[in-house]
Amino acid sequence: MQDLSMPPFTTPSTVLPVSVSQDADPLEVWERIVAPKYLRHRQLMVAATTAHGLAAMEYAPPARGERVLDVGTGTGESALLLAARVGPRGRVLGVDGSASFLELARQDLTQSGYSNVAFAELDAGRHAFGPSFDLCFSQFGTMFFEQPGAAFRNLRGALHPGGRLLMSVWRSLSHNDWLGLAKGVAERTLGAVPEDAPSCGPGPFSLASPDTVHALLGAAGFGNIELQEVRCDVNIGDSVEQATDFALDLGPAGEIVRFFDDADGRARVRAGLAELFAQHLGPEGIQLGSASWIVSATHS
Ligand SMILES: C[S@@+](CC[C@H](N)C(=O)[O-])C[C@H]1O[C@@H](n2cnc3c(N)ncnc32)[C@H](O)[C@@H]1O
Repeated sequence: MQDLSMPPFTTPSTVLPVSVSQDADPLEVWERIVAPKYLRHRQLMVAATTAHGLAAMEYAPPARGERVLDVGTGTGESALLLAARVGPRGRVLGVDGSASFLELARQDLTQSGYSNVAFAELDAGRHAFGPSFDLCFSQFGTMFFEQPGAAFRNLRGALHPGGRLLMSVWRSLSHNDWLGLAKGVAERTLGAVPEDAPSCGPGPFSLASPDTVHALLGAAGFGNIELQEVRCDVNIGDSVEQATDFALDLGPAGEIVRFFDDADGRARVRAGLAELFAQHLGPEGIQLGSASWIVSATHS
């Protein structure tokens, strides 16, 4: 029987933090700023995103033999999970704008033995794919497009008539305590990040509003647009220290700490986070609520 479970993955090496210019584009921010931190916490992040991505794959399963585009594949776990579902006659192309993510994805692909998966480094919002896919899937890779209207039109163009879009996107921060509680601590300690600071695009919560999703996808030519909520607790660390490191690096709290770039401020946020997470430490580590939308739509 085909193994549909999460494959084992390569542990990344540590990368030193860097900064980017004020006018850096989102893909540069992903590659130079976010990827090194994301990869440091790969196990936790991917377990969290995959819990939601698997729910999407179960909600609207890819069929055997289908050709699937996996947008913002990151380190490629979702591409391998899709490959198991479409089978040897199907094909999966995992695309991402970040070379460091894809380097790990390719290493794991080699070890996985799948021959129906390929990865490509490109901007999924702009690349001219041609109408060659049955399914455009994305596990949290579509919220960062600088020009979402044009990007979703572009993704529709990757589908042949009758093709489907299936994506997981985060609900708002108030539904995602695993990121939101830490943001509260960082913001109370250091303040808010200005709107015009360099960022990895509109951000993880840019598709949280069903109205926005309907407007963007409708304008891009998609039909049968539906949203289905997924809720689950995710683990952000087995210890207070691990959860604190996670929150200092990633999510809105990590962005605040990076923006203020102040050792004393960082130490104060660390202390606040440790206090917060100590209150949530249970037998299975620090588990906090998360919520996403499964968005499904068709090329119409
Ligand atoms: C939150 S991560 C999700 C990664 C992976 N799908 C997962 O669930 O772990 C978002 C991914 O989208 C990629 N990404 C962001 N904008 C992109 C774009 N315009 N084109 C291709 N990839 C993009 C980032 O490089 C990153 O790997």
